Amino acid sequence: MRIVIASDHAAVELRQEMADEARSLGHEVTDLGPAPGEAVDYPVNGAKVGRLVASGEYDLGLLACGTGVGISIAANKVPGIRAVVCSEPYSAKLSRQHNDSNVLAVGARVVGPGLARMIVAEWLAAEFEGGRHARRVGLITDLETVTRDASVS
Ligand code: RB5
Repeated sequence: MRIVIASDHAAVELRQEMADEARSLGHEVTDLGPAPGEAVDYPVNGAKVGRLVASGEYDLGLLACGTGVGISIAANKVPGIRAVVCSEPYSAKLSRQHNDSNVLAVGARVVGPGLARMIVAEWLAAEFEGGRHARRVGLITDLETVTRDASVS
């Protein structure tokens, strides 16, 4: 698969581990940085990866920041993105199978390199199961177009 990856300055080393894991599994990985010592605000790179995945230029996105939280919130502002923060492989796998997550974020201050690689590997190996899950993911997509006052039943 075509994978795009980025982080902020708090997660440069973890991002490199994640990219290396994805490459070792045969994926084509584009790394948007930042380089060591370069400061980048997490919303900037979260949005970049989100837009590149939502546009179809890449199949999936990987993100990392200190906690994985801020950068995933930013990515989730892009319509079509279902970004998840995971600290263990089970949720990562299920987020692909049930939620069709298309961006995975990991926190460099939360998860060590070995566990991060395992999370990435499980996430990339899992596939969306469709079926009853597709309807529910559709309900999530519907939320992108409802107005602030609308209620979704
Ligand atoms: C940067 O210090 C830190 O706030 C960021 O990496 C991330 O943890 C935000 O959610």
